[in-house]
Amino acid sequence: MQAPSLDWSIGGYETIAALLLPAAETVVAAAGLKRGDRVVDIGCGTGNAALLAARQGAEVIGVDPALRLIEVAAERAAREGVQASFRQGEAASLPIPDASMDVAISVFGIIFAGDAAAAIAEIDRVLTAPARIVLSAWLPRGAVFEMNAAAAAAVRAAVGAPRPRHSIGTTATS
Ligand SMILES: C[S@@+](CC[C@H](N)C(=O)[O-])C[C@H]1O[C@@H](n2cnc3c(N)ncnc32)[C@H](O)[C@@H]1O
Repeated sequence: MQAPSLDWSIGGYETIAALLLPAAETVVAAAGLKRGDRVVDIGCGTGNAALLAARQGAEVIGVDPALRLIEVAAERAAREGVQASFRQGEAASLPIPDASMDVAISVFGIIFAGDAAAAIAEIDRVLTAPARIVLSAWLPRGAVFEMNAAAAAAVRAAVGAPRPRHSIGTTATS
């Protein structure tokens, strides 16, 4: 597996995940899931979208490179009595067989794939027609984007951290 540019296991991503729950609700609603749909949640993190999809009766696999986060997702599923499985992996090499999924979703996850073309090719490989794909990405403009970019650049400069790569949906600005 190609090493991600940033290990999201470090720190307390759970706090941000709680704030992003409305985005997961929007993505899952847009996917128009039916009971039994086979769904892959790419960059599932702590499982927000994966668990919502599973609660609608979908058969869900969450994939994320951050081992600690998928452990959190699996614990959430067990605690809430929801059937979903979680695998360590990344967008450009999904640990999923060919043509085995009906729906691909990603809530601000696949945007971090270093190789956008490879990630899109992987979605194409694992889906079977008729398939649905619903992705969310940050818009690279506006006051919130500018504020976050400035804050992130300052923190990265202070701690010497690398800039996360957004290969899909945004352009690099800092
Ligand atoms: C902003 S978080 C979103 C997590 C989750 N989808 C949510 O809604 O809370 C970004 C996620 O993308 C994952 N990620 C980073 N690089 C990735 C890659 N190359 N392929 C798949 N996921 C990746 C991170 O580990 C992290 O969990």
